[in-house]
Amino acid sequence: MTSPKATPSRSWRQFKETMSLLYLAVRPRRSRPDLVYDMLGTHNNLAEQSLFLNLGYWEKAKTYDAACLALAEELAKDAGLKDGQKLLDAGCGFGDASHFWSQSYKLPRIKALNITRSQVEIARERFGKDGIDFVEGSAMNMPFPDKEFDSLFALESSFHFPDRLQFFREAMRVLKPGGVLAIADFFPISQKISLSQRVKEWIGRGLWQIPKANWIDLKAVEKQLAGVGFELRSLRDISPHVFRPYKDYAQRRVKDPVVAERLHPLLAKSWGGPHSGLERSQYVILVLTKKGN
Ligand SMILES: C[S@@+](CC[C@H](N)C(=O)[O-])C[C@H]1O[C@@H](n2cnc3c(N)ncnc32)[C@H](O)[C@@H]1O
Repeated sequence: MTSPKATPSRSWRQFKETMSLLYLAVRPRRSRPDLVYDMLGTHNNLAEQSLFLNLGYWEKAKTYDAACLALAEELAKDAGLKDGQKLLDAGCGFGDASHFWSQSYKLPRIKALNITRSQVEIARERFGKDGIDFVEGSAMNMPFPDKEFDSLFALESSFHFPDRLQFFREAMRVLKPGGVLAIADFFPISQKISLSQRVKEWIGRGLWQIPKANWIDLKAVEKQLAGVGFELRSLRDISPHVFRPYKDYAQRRVKDPVVAERLHPLLAKSWGGPHSGLERSQYVILVLTKKGN
């Protein structure tokens, strides 16, 4: 199949995306994930029907949508989400996971928070009528009262938060005593790396706007969590079901002519290429409980 000729609007869009990518790569303060997601839009995505934006859990899944849904399911299972609970989804993307949790459990209206306005607007259109309140705002300073939620999920979003420790403090504030914070995310493994790996990682952190303060190993993160008063309930390393199968899938997926047509060529090259600099990491599901009254 030959791809259709590039229209001027597509070339213009790709030109603007190239400028954004260059800007993100060199931007010294890595604190604007909203610029990343504005640039990605809904077309720079490997999904089939959904608009999920995570690496997925691939133990049984064969497609990206199924893997992302499975990751949302694993997070809720580990967190012990129950019918009737008040849930906050921090860093909700286009709302696919919030929608899945609201359909799978009998929950009062879920709150779904996101810093990226363009995503909030689309999420509202897609799922606003389905028992979810999409709220524009930052996980650093959450627009919710104290002791409001039974559960707070951060599905592959906390790596972006400009000061993750501040997010942990906020989570402590908005959760009820005994409430659960559940995080699915990747954390770097402390090990010596070469200069070229370091450079790749620095560029990768720029493209994804990952602040240096967040690029710390799991032990350091656990210390931060304990310091603000969270008790560790479970920690599951799911790396083998995430990184490699995701990469295998992405390498095939970018060759699909329909997908290739919509992706920015640099993103297609990166997603379809070998492991990037951000993959000396472990992917974990962390579940914590708020101590105290
Ligand atoms: C990798 S995406 C994950 C989206 C969604 N959880 C999913 O699995 O599809 C990260 C999300 O975190 C959001 N985000 C980043 N920084 C944020 C912040 N400070 N407060 C709230 N949301 C934030 C981004 O806008 C994006 O929607």
